[in-house]
Amino acid sequence: MTAITLLRGDITRQSADAIVNAANSSLLGGGGVDGAIHRRGGPAILEDCRRLRASRYGKGLRTGQAVATTAGDLDAHWVIHTVGPRFSPQEDRSALLASCYREALRVADELGARTVAFPAVSAGVYGWPLEDAARIAVETVRAAATEVEEVRFVLFDERAYEAFAGQLA
Ligand code: AR6
Repeated sequence: MTAITLLRGDITRQSADAIVNAANSSLLGGGGVDGAIHRRGGPAILEDCRRLRASRYGKGLRTGQAVATTAGDLDAHWVIHTVGPRFSPQEDRSALLASCYREALRVADELGARTVAFPAVSAGVYGWPLEDAARIAVETVRAAATEVEEVRFVLFDERAYEAFAGQLA
């Protein structure tokens, strides 16, 4: 049974076995939570990402997939990078967003991670409406078959926190 907890704060300040990054397919950094993780985690994360690009992911990590690197200076063993879909009003990409959570948990299981902190994937730069992003995140984690004992959603602002709290109520 996986416990789901909610916290308002900065995910880069969390202590967890794994911290999930809302990355882009280049794996080479960006803004938002991605920028914050690389800044606080230091260059070791980017070095690992570069190695992954040079080996398994020449064309980048596909949307909905997940891969782990070191967590560098973060208080975690691993960063699990996943690539959320950009929101599109014309096309339903919910399955890809659900896949981010499922795949991140699958990678966490492979690693033996028991506590995993997630941001609200796709709910920033990628434009996903918060309520819907929160619903997909919570439903997918609830339905996942995983050995992870705690999934902690770490929400940066009050609106995001309220959206996730509404799903758990
Ligand atoms: N801790 C927790 N949540 C955060 C933090 C933080 N330190 N910083 C931002 N958020 P985003 P996306 C929240 O844009 O939408 C990057 O450039 C933020 O308020 O980080 O998946 C990547 O390289 C929002 O609720 O990720 C990609 O190009 C949520 O995290 C692109 O952005 C996700 O916002 C990915 O966009």
